[in-house]
Amino acid sequence: MTGPERVTLAMTGASGAQYGLRLLDCLVSEDREVHFLISKAAQLVMATETDVALPAKPQAMQAFLTEYTGAASGQIRVYGKEDWMAPVASGSGAPSAMVVVPCSTGTLSAIAAGACNNLIERAADVALKERRQLILVPREAPYSTIHLENMLKLSQMGAVIVPASPGFYHQPQTIDDLVDFVVARVLNLLDIPQDMLPRWGEHHVAHDE
Ligand SMILES: Cc1cc2nc3c(=O)[nH]c(=O)nc-3n(C[C@H](O)[C@H](O)[C@H](O)COP(=O)(O)O)c2cc1C
Repeated sequence: MTGPERVTLAMTGASGAQYGLRLLDCLVSEDREVHFLISKAAQLVMATETDVALPAKPQAMQAFLTEYTGAASGQIRVYGKEDWMAPVASGSGAPSAMVVVPCSTGTLSAIAAGACNNLIERAADVALKERRQLILVPREAPYSTIHLENMLKLSQMGAVIVPASPGFYHQPQTIDDLVDFVVARVLNLLDIPQDMLPRWGEHHVAHDE
């Protein structure tokens, strides 16, 4: 198996709930254990953007997501925003990789400042302090200087910023194709297999000029 066996997936309140749900789906299909965190704002965005009726309480949410993705029992673990005893809250228990997708500018700012006011911010802080993989997928338009400065600061600390901005060179036909473009990028970074998007040059046939 390539890539991490356990991944922390946090969804926050930027537009693009589909990205987080699709990544969850792919991580489950690739037999990863997922520690799932979601902000209140992300739940509102999900209700606005999708037909997914996510229960609000962690236990019910865990049962729902397990059924929704077809995960094995215990494969998805959902933690509440102040569950400080969760594995993700400590360097000794946290998975080796964390993705915040979508990442709101509010959470981006809190992570850059080391705020730790909820479990998502704490888990990201742990990833940074332990020098583990932290992938952030922000979405806003336009970006303010504050957003850009926070992204620069986080990038310099080792986080990888993957803007939710799909390319078009794979000739997307559907919204799912656009979502998959961004999710495939995240999976490539995690070194987890994906067949949604060929790697650049994969189907390239050398030819004379
Ligand atoms: C429907 C909807 C769409 C939103 N879209 C964005 C967005 O694209 N980017 C962003 O940074 N915030 C967006 N917001 C605002 C955030 O949800 C808000 O700043 C919230 O405080 C973020 O909290 P969180 O970081 O705890 O999730 C949106 C809110 C709603 C309700």
